[in-house]
Amino acid sequence: MSQDSAPGRVRAHLETLVARGRPGDRLPSVRELMSQLGVSPTTVRAAVAELIRSGTVETVPGRGTFVAAPSRRRARSGDRAWQTLALGSTITGEDLLAPLRATPTPDTIDLAGGYPHPGLYPDSLITRALRRAVRRPGVLGRAPVEGIAPLREWFAEQLGPDGGHRVLITPGGQAALSLIFRSLALTGDTVLMESPTYVGAVGAARAAGLVPVPVPMDDQGVLAEGLAAAVDRTGGRILYIQPRFHNPTGATLAPERRPAVMDLARRHGLIVVEDDWLHDLDDPWHRQEPLAADDPDGHVVHVRSLTKSISPAVRIAAVSAAGAIFERIRATRSVEDFFVSPIMQETALDVVTDPAWPRHLERLRSRLAERQELLRDGLEAIGVDPRSVTGGPLHLWMASPRGLDPDELRVAALRNGVSVVSGTSWYPGDVPCGNIRLSNAAGPGAEITVGLERLGRAVDQLSA
Ligand SMILES: Cc1ncc(COP(=O)(O)O)c(C=O)c1O
Repeated sequence: MSQDSAPGRVRAHLETLVARGRPGDRLPSVRELMSQLGVSPTTVRAAVAELIRSGTVETVPGRGTFVAAPSRRRARSGDRAWQTLALGSTITGEDLLAPLRATPTPDTIDLAGGYPHPGLYPDSLITRALRRAVRRPGVLGRAPVEGIAPLREWFAEQLGPDGGHRVLITPGGQAALSLIFRSLALTGDTVLMESPTYVGAVGAARAAGLVPVPVPMDDQGVLAEGLAAAVDRTGGRILYIQPRFHNPTGATLAPERRPAVMDLARRHGLIVVEDDWLHDLDDPWHRQEPLAADDPDGHVVHVRSLTKSISPAVRIAAVSAAGAIFERIRATRSVEDFFVSPIMQETALDVVTDPAWPRHLERLRSRLAERQELLRDGLEAIGVDPRSVTGGPLHLWMASPRGLDPDELRVAALRNGVSVVSGTSWYPGDVPCGNIRLSNAAGPGAEITVGLERLGRAVDQLSA
């Protein structure tokens, strides 16, 4: 109601009287207001009704309208305290991911990042692909909910000849995890997860109302006996697992454990969500096939993202699943977000089918390996126990230097101009040890060295 409208004028007049008066003071009657302000009875009643709703005035039938006690006045405009009550307890899991998403200031060295350094993106491949993509017929229109056919076919061929799995394109791996959890489970359902595990998966599961349950793992991946015990105890039907370059530990599931995991899936009817997030950073000559490549009964939902190997901005990932599971995922996707931009899909397809793509991946792998060596070499000097260090192509995971509290170290590191990840949020259950994760996705060598020096200063300050 605007102040210039007739009810707005009446309301403003009454608000002035309320501000000047005291609780319980009688306000002018409808008739008095009509003659003072020259308005109709309907206008007066509309204004009074609004002030009653906001708790500013109250009426006593037969006696009139009075200034309400302040305790009865409800939130004025701009006061959003009511939202706290309306929304209730938070389950978004967003707080878990905040440190990951934080953009460091330009002078902070980023040893926390989850993507390769921008200097390693295939800029010219992306630019060329984008230029070609926007010229394709129909690309400025809609796309099928599952994604464009040639990109889906490319992902399907990559998964292997097993067949039965169908592909759906999502805007990145995080969106895929969220979609899968929301499609395949109901609030309160258990999701079994390696401990530790990717904090974004814990967040997505919590946001879907699911209960993450930890399953023990070691440097060879998930422990089959631990998984069997967790299934027996919880009756959980969904397992989230990273068999390749597990984030944060870097572990790859040992070949001899794979049959045990799949056997458990068959015996207990488990859905295995296989997050193959670093597929492209594995050596193509020696890499293990995804679990989904040998999954005739459709237990595995495979997620593969291109955001680490192309760029985080080309947000394309694929979910591959079979049978009714695929249909459920497709149905959920169609109600939450009709399709991924065809421009991005065409661009990703162009990049991965460019003859220069394998060369880009080779270069990316070797640059990251060089940086990882540099990072690893500098750890002992800042108080890290080298026996505790594990890791994959993008990160190293280790006991916090000199046993310092990882959360305190993260804050002290930031004060010294370097960002690191504290491992405390990376456990779906109890946090058994104080670990940190350092990423070799920072800039070229010199940056990693300076980052480590700054982290060393933070360690010294905290342990002084
Ligand atoms: C294990 C794992 N899965 C999925 C993702 C999601 O990545 P994106 O949404 O960029 O594809 C990440 C991101 O770091 C990750 O570490």
